Amino acid sequence: MAFGTGKIWMNGSFVEWADARIHIGSHVIHYGTGVFEGARCYRTQNGSACFRLDDHVVRLINSAKIYRMDSPLDREGWVRAIESTIRENNLKACYIRPIMYRGYSALGVNPLPCPVDIAVMVWEWGAYLGPEAQDKGVDVRISSWNRMAPNTFPAMAKSTANYANAALIKMEAVLDGYSEGIALDVNGFVSEGSGQNLFIVRNGVISTPPVSASILPGITRDSVMTIARGLGFDVREELMPREMLYLADEAFFVGTAVEITPIRSVDKIVIGAGQRGPVTAALHRAFFEIVSGEVPDTHNWLKWLDLDESTRNQPAGTAGANVR
Ligand SMILES: Cc1ncc(COP(=O)(O)O)c(C=O)c1O
Repeated sequence: MAFGTGKIWMNGSFVEWADARIHIGSHVIHYGTGVFEGARCYRTQNGSACFRLDDHVVRLINSAKIYRMDSPLDREGWVRAIESTIRENNLKACYIRPIMYRGYSALGVNPLPCPVDIAVMVWEWGAYLGPEAQDKGVDVRISSWNRMAPNTFPAMAKSTANYANAALIKMEAVLDGYSEGIALDVNGFVSEGSGQNLFIVRNGVISTPPVSASILPGITRDSVMTIARGLGFDVREELMPREMLYLADEAFFVGTAVEITPIRSVDKIVIGAGQRGPVTAALHRAFFEIVSGEVPDTHNWLKWLDLDESTRNQPAGTAGANVR
């Protein structure tokens, strides 16, 4: 089901996509008072499975906590709402967008009088940076925009407000002919892309900026660090001056939308061999073996959806090509 069709879960009920409206006076529209998530449900030969859904829901509730929003649903409630939205739309694989936002009541800056409204959208969403990006890599630039300084906008919250900064980074990159922009933090260290974390590989060591570099602590980032350590790599969270990108043997983005996407150039400086490198390829392979159910889910990252009786109770890892 493509973006624009199907049903959306709003405050406990399903509504037709076209009817999922909010009032123009809703607080979130004027002041960016929303928090949200982006997760994926993968289709495998063993059925459909959401990747680290509990972790996404925990981050959603934590984002709300930072913004003093009482989540109307607890963790299990969110998981049930999300699973039922996927079922209602009869989707086997999809992108999942739960959102919690300050709704309509009064229009002062203070959001506290406004209700906390919630919704879940799902739709089929393929390769975020284009069909060839994960194989061939993308060309990116360092953004002229920095990420938020500490104690301005909380980077650890996945809040709608942060994406005003992300939109500036993305627009600048796209209008200059790049796929993405990489923002530096306020101290000039590498932070992240407009909607994805990043890693570099240098002399066999895998590095990624730390949480203190104004990044969203990504769930894919955490997964990639776990997978890489499992493969025996030395993985470090460390501050990175910009030039470390230029001198990397490999660089790649990670995130729910981009999954694992090689970066082939930064500011027109070719990274390594200018194509997906061997470490990126190994991590990409290992990641997709897990999300496609081809290997046993030893990290317990897959939440299987009972979409139909024929797939019920089948364990992960008994069959299956990646049929994304
Ligand atoms: C700004 C930003 N950084 C990083 C990420 C990657 O996070 P995750 O892997 O949890 O999707 C995202 C995507 O949600 C993002 O929007």
